[in-house]
Amino acid sequence: MKNIKLLVITICMVASIQSIAKAMQSNDLQNVLNRDRIILDGVWDVIVDPLENGYYNHRWNPREDGYFQNDKMEKPSDLIEYDFDSDLQLNVPGDWNTQEEKLYYYEGTIWYKREFDYKPKTMGENLFLYFGAVNYDAIVYLNGKKLGQHIGGFTPFQFDVTGKVKSEKNWIVVKVDNKRKREAIPTINTDWWNYGGITRSVYLIQTPKEFIRDYTIKLSKESDKKIDIKVELNDASLTGNVEVNIPELKISKKISVTNGKGSLTLSAKPKLWSPSNPKLYEVTFSYNFDTIKDQIGFRRVETKGTKILLNGKEIFLKGISIHEESPFKTGRVTTLEECRTLLNWALEMGCNFVRLAHYPHNEFMVREAEKLGLIVWSEIPVYWTVLFDNEGTYQNAENQLVEMIHRDKNRANIVMWSIANETPEGDARLQFLKKLSEKVRSLDKTRLVTAALDTHSKKDGLSFIEDDLGKYVDVIGINSYCGWYSKAPNECMDIKWGSDYDKPVIVSEFGAGALQGLHGTEFERWTEEYQAAVYRNNIAMLKNMSFLAGTSPWILMDFRSHRRHLRRIQRDFNRKGLISEQGVKKQAFFILQEYYNSIDNK
Ligand code: GCU
Repeated sequence: MKNIKLLVITICMVASIQSIAKAMQSNDLQNVLNRDRIILDGVWDVIVDPLENGYYNHRWNPREDGYFQNDKMEKPSDLIEYDFDSDLQLNVPGDWNTQEEKLYYYEGTIWYKREFDYKPKTMGENLFLYFGAVNYDAIVYLNGKKLGQHIGGFTPFQFDVTGKVKSEKNWIVVKVDNKRKREAIPTINTDWWNYGGITRSVYLIQTPKEFIRDYTIKLSKESDKKIDIKVELNDASLTGNVEVNIPELKISKKISVTNGKGSLTLSAKPKLWSPSNPKLYEVTFSYNFDTIKDQIGFRRVETKGTKILLNGKEIFLKGISIHEESPFKTGRVTTLEECRTLLNWALEMGCNFVRLAHYPHNEFMVREAEKLGLIVWSEIPVYWTVLFDNEGTYQNAENQLVEMIHRDKNRANIVMWSIANETPEGDARLQFLKKLSEKVRSLDKTRLVTAALDTHSKKDGLSFIEDDLGKYVDVIGINSYCGWYSKAPNECMDIKWGSDYDKPVIVSEFGAGALQGLHGTEFERWTEEYQAAVYRNNIAMLKNMSFLAGTSPWILMDFRSHRRHLRRIQRDFNRKGLISEQGVKKQAFFILQEYYNSIDNK
């Protein structure tokens, strides 16, 4: 078999970082999971390349023209050892850290390769190479030619490969680099493991020559009896009609398209989506030979003073924060089954809300939460001390925001887009986040903007919310660790809160660490009893907050982090989970469950 030797990968140094160039809006396919797909998941060949030899020569210059092995070109001798066919293999999707012991701490480049044959479904079809997510910096090549680069570890990206594939032996090479960088998003320090790799699925997506590239469908802001629809075809020269069918609402309408775009507001009275009735309607869009189905919920979310209203009724968000850590096997979540496990634990706890921290989770998680009636807070990893005065950092953050919103804009359960977590106050940070909040509102007027703050002050004996960022969000998240990072557990219940803002507040984090199975008194840190005491006292504190609209304590399940070393207690795991990574509930799980079950949901 023709050995594909990774010889030299060529890039021009001024790589047009395709994803950043896309920051203004996304042209990616909408609703990939319901399109014709060839799934490229499975075992891929890899080469671990800590010195990036496959990319730079020994003078640290990018190599000359691409030397991919073929009949005509000789390969530079110094790369004769690079041979995909006799090196390691890794599963895709999946992080490399938990697949190979020797990659546990690895931060650097790993080259991935796989081959595929290709048989068109229809004459003249389009073909796209789609990645659910790659952490962190991906450069993708097809048959020896560079397709482009994507920066950002938690949002999807794609390349149009129409006309670039053969019937047999096509080969994809992906350079994946998960090195943390000060100017990146997230920046160099986070409290979660830097899982590197092609961490979500890879698909070849086949569409007819003329197809529906994007659509938005939602309840109109003006009335519960109107549905707003926008459609966009893949070519601005296209005209005609897109048909939209919602059989259960007896809707079959034609949307007139000019210059490749069309919109329609139609009258309908759908049952509204809510946690107690997560009603989804089968919607079909069709245009010529293209048909795409989706499952759509209709709802309205807004704020009124310090209340959050869902479908015009006040709702209290009984939530929990969740990292994308796989239960039992640990590492990045990669399967629908794992998503179901995490979400069912949340439901068992009495939740109607999950904060998917601190980055966009995989699409299965969002869609499954929608089906289960769980409201979602979705977040980009503008986390702690990013370089707020760096334009490239801002463009990166905005691009990840655009990609997050583009993928999930039709999901009824996503109620809030979060633009930051625990960022330190300052002018540059405020301008950076103000711009991000404006970007959200320019893209999506149907959802709320939020951010989690750990900045509150003392004023008149109150814990006071006065961060200027409060001006630019609709809902204020507050992370407060009374009983863990400050004070003793029994000092929390008397804390009183004040706020400069007539806006809803969600206590987006509180909690404490406990090693599951470690018991003692409630004054002994790391015992389940101590964690339970922190929960009891913080819940008592929440009851003092007149402007509280919900909470998402930290966190559903123990998760891996480089910052959590205590060998007898943590062993690289942040132990604030209410459930251990082996799925065993701690005492505090039941404290929170009892609290939530006592709230007749507003
Ligand atoms: C912070 C942060 C979390 C972190 C948590 C902790 O509030 O938002 O990402 O894991 O506190 O210290 O455990």
